[in-house]
Amino acid sequence: MTSLFDPIQIGDIALSNRIVMAPLTRNRAIAGNVAGPLTVEYYRQRATAGLIIAEASQISPMAQGYLATPGIHSPEQIAGWRQVTDAVHAAGGKIVLQLWHVGRISHTSLLPDGAAPVSSTDKVANASTFTSDGFVPVSTPRALRDDEIPGLIEDYRRAARNAIDAGFDGVELHAANTYLIEQFLRDSVNDRSGPYGGSIANRARLLLEVVEAITKEIGAGRTGIRLSPMTTFTAPLDSDPQALYGYVVEQLAPFGLAYLHVIEGETGGTRTPEAKAFDYEALHRAFPGAWMLNNGYSRDLAIENVAAGKADLVAFGRSFISTPDLVRRLKDDLPLNELQADKLYGGGAEGYTDYPALAA
Ligand code: PHB
Repeated sequence: MTSLFDPIQIGDIALSNRIVMAPLTRNRAIAGNVAGPLTVEYYRQRATAGLIIAEASQISPMAQGYLATPGIHSPEQIAGWRQVTDAVHAAGGKIVLQLWHVGRISHTSLLPDGAAPVSSTDKVANASTFTSDGFVPVSTPRALRDDEIPGLIEDYRRAARNAIDAGFDGVELHAANTYLIEQFLRDSVNDRSGPYGGSIANRARLLLEVVEAITKEIGAGRTGIRLSPMTTFTAPLDSDPQALYGYVVEQLAPFGLAYLHVIEGETGGTRTPEAKAFDYEALHRAFPGAWMLNNGYSRDLAIENVAAGKADLVAFGRSFISTPDLVRRLKDDLPLNELQADKLYGGGAEGYTDYPALAA
């Protein structure tokens, strides 16, 4: 029987266990949206994870949606991340970077020359974002022209290359949580005509072209992807999530990706019955790579799902924020630290690098 604590090879990356640190936005980037010394310490403390998925990082200046999130498009950002990956590797860990474009979930004050955010649509989202003026409603987006898509794909390709140059073991394409890729996928947002709107195949085209570009650049064995079929965060569900995400996974299968990471139910939510309205196992059966599940996992459920073959890996979010030595605590069945929920976004060391690990 497979254990949560067993090693696993995912694509080109060898992991010492199946416990993953989920990508977590912490808004602590320093000037230039660079991962600074505190961020180095934060990830170093958590390097006993089988895999760290470093927080969502914008692939270009236009891809940013919140204050003080790190990027992976400038030389300073690459150098900052290099300190992080060196620290994690020196501590025996593995780390990939989540590649992010927020699409319409942004504000003109965060974008170059006060530009409008870009999306599949020009309809504004019913959502807010965090800027230097605090929480504000997101700005009305501009729909990308079809002739701008190649440039967007090029931004993803270059960001993947930059991540490898920064020492990451790979990347995770963020295709979840109603950001840009999902703004193309879902018919609840995408109101385009032409090659990137209308049918499921057309709405999935951007995602698949981005995967093609990234895997050609860095190799499929260093590429994972995250999906959230039932998350409504900043947009309604698709009219037929099972058909849409079923098609996506069927098309992803031949790429030979390192892993597929699925959020069950509503992102950040508890494990609600609504999640059961979606057949995640159908996607699992269609995907040949490692299968990673996430959302509100307890120790028992993680152990049980890996033992039963329902997951190869389990990603933990809030538990990894509060408990840097989560792997040891789960292994020895020790209690976790309490989360300081008011210190998740922004600030300094408090609620970031000051959560204690247990003494050896
Ligand atoms: C957030 O900043 O609230 C956030 C970022 C990335 C996600 C989800 C939420 O995937």
